[in-house]
Amino acid sequence: MNRVLVLLHLLAVIVWIGGMFFAHACLRPVAAAQLPPPQRLPLLAAVLGRFFVVVGWALVFLWGSGIIRFAQAGAAIPASWLAMVGIAAVMTVILAVIVFRFHRPMVAAVAASDWPQAGAAMNTIRQLVLPNLLLGVFTVAVAVLGA
Ligand code: HEM
Repeated sequence: MNRVLVLLHLLAVIVWIGGMFFAHACLRPVAAAQLPPPQRLPLLAAVLGRFFVVVGWALVFLWGSGIIRFAQAGAAIPASWLAMVGIAAVMTVILAVIVFRFHRPMVAAVAASDWPQAGAAMNTIRQLVLPNLLLGVFTVAVAVLGA
């Protein structure tokens, strides 16, 4: 059962970090190079909207499986686990800021065909996704190397 929890944990990590990597390193640069704002920004707003729904479910499994393993471990909590949950909390807050503070206004700006506003929101989202991606990779390193 514990291995099933770790499997769910790792699948959630793959979805979240892998999705951020794909969006940041592959999708957005190509969309920026090939599509003008009236085509690019609706595409990115819709792709991100879908991704955030999937990541919402991934977070349920990530936090759920992690919290259960914490509860099972009792008092003997390794330092790497504490570091993991601390960084994961920061990443989750950054994600919430992206979704509620910038993605929702971006969707509204796209609906109003306000491309400068939508583009500015997308730019901030890009600037916030990069540190979250780096934190995610760092967390995997802490979790695996500190185990
Ligand atoms: C993006 C955030 C996270 C990443 C990248 C991450 C990554 C990982 C990885 C790679 C492992 C496997 C380590 C190994 O066995 O070698 C792991 C295990 C674990 N994680 Fe996370 N984790 C994250 C968030 C969390 C959260 C939020 C919690 C707690 C609420 C948590 C609690 C745990 C626990 C307790 C284990 C040990 C499971 C076991 O060995 O049975 N993690 N994590």
